[in-house]
Amino acid sequence: MYKRSDFPAGFQFGASTAAYQIEGHSFGGAGRTHWDDFAATSGNVVRAENGAVACDHYHRWEADLDLIRDAGFDAYRFSTSWARVLPEGRGAVNAEGLDFYDRLVDGMLERGIKPMITLYHWELPSALADLGGWANNDVAKWFADYAEIIMGRVGDRIWKTATINELYCVSVLGYLTGHHAPGTRNVRAAVRAMHNVSLAHGTAVEALRAAGYGDLGAVCNFTHHRPVDDSPETAAAMQRADDLDNRFFLSGFFKGAYPEGLVELVGQHLPEGWQDDMKTVSTPVDWLGVNYYFSTIVAADDGPWPAVRQVEGPLPKTQMGWEIYPDGLRHFLRMCADEYSGETPLYITENGMANADLVDGGAVADQVRIDYLDQHFAKARQAIDEGVPLEGYFVWSLMDNYEWALGYEKRFGIVHVDFDSQERTPKASYHALKAALAS
Ligand code: FCB
Repeated sequence: MYKRSDFPAGFQFGASTAAYQIEGHSFGGAGRTHWDDFAATSGNVVRAENGAVACDHYHRWEADLDLIRDAGFDAYRFSTSWARVLPEGRGAVNAEGLDFYDRLVDGMLERGIKPMITLYHWELPSALADLGGWANNDVAKWFADYAEIIMGRVGDRIWKTATINELYCVSVLGYLTGHHAPGTRNVRAAVRAMHNVSLAHGTAVEALRAAGYGDLGAVCNFTHHRPVDDSPETAAAMQRADDLDNRFFLSGFFKGAYPEGLVELVGQHLPEGWQDDMKTVSTPVDWLGVNYYFSTIVAADDGPWPAVRQVEGPLPKTQMGWEIYPDGLRHFLRMCADEYSGETPLYITENGMANADLVDGGAVADQVRIDYLDQHFAKARQAIDEGVPLEGYFVWSLMDNYEWALGYEKRFGIVHVDFDSQERTPKASYHALKAALAS
């Protein structure tokens, strides 16, 4: 396996999690979120599972931080829950929630782990969802206010700050396909949400920068596409898919403009005066996070925008059914650096795979995950050789957790979690990473 010493000195290795997926949202005075509502709606989530208990990290955080330290990770990418800090999304603060994150950050520092915070990883307070959530043009202001409150408490000890995790998933999966909370399927709401989530990012960066915080970044996810054939129809579908999946948010952040083709097709749904917001959307960031998992085959589809269909491909697949295509990681690192972010430092903020892992005699033999990680390390290393300013890699995820609409069935952890006993069992991949980081 690739080792720490195969990467440049100072390259940072870490593990990632997210609040709603691990904490247990029924504890500590957290408010209701749109994921609780989505999961309580018949047919949305496997076995209607929710994040009420999740990994019980709210009570087990010390042992979980020990696992991060013992693996030899330099940093931990965690997220704070908006509804834990502000149960109604605005107004009254939940002191217990702020105290929890305060302890957590101190716990990282005590263990020599650098805290990388993500301010929003999808648990919108239900009270704000009632007002239209990300489709409401006021959400940018609400988000920036929350960002200042949580950073006011922990920001003095944070290594790097990301605003919103995967703006694509927030807006497109939440409001266009309906696969994620709030489960809306409406093109107008979706396009407005795409803009509002971009504006929320920029508004928060401006506010935090004005308040004196640095090392502010954005985290985007990317899906690699291969064409089903070489027809002009497929080429056009590839372009629509690329604009929507990979370029919309990057273009906003780094060019202050959205892809022209996309604006031609659905720009009529953008909020009035959206052009005036683009300066804020593109306020400079200090780093960019790249989340990358898989590739898919794209074909043209009849019907409304984006008029794209996914075709099952031949590559080996993970438990998610996602095709493993490590060179996609290199592709997007190059695309970001060459076409958008230039010299801005890049971090791989998520990469990993789900596997149907079983504990056998106190061990979990997930060689397939070790291979997956190693193949992606190779591509990260290659991107550095090709000149990409890549400065770190974070594995998704520290431990098995609530995989959103797929419930607890999909296991992404390098640590196995028994969701009945809450027992943690480091998998073979955890031990392999530990060895790799030590040498
Ligand atoms: C990403 C999410 C993360 C997790 C992984 C598998 O899109 O950011 O929470 O669900 O996928």
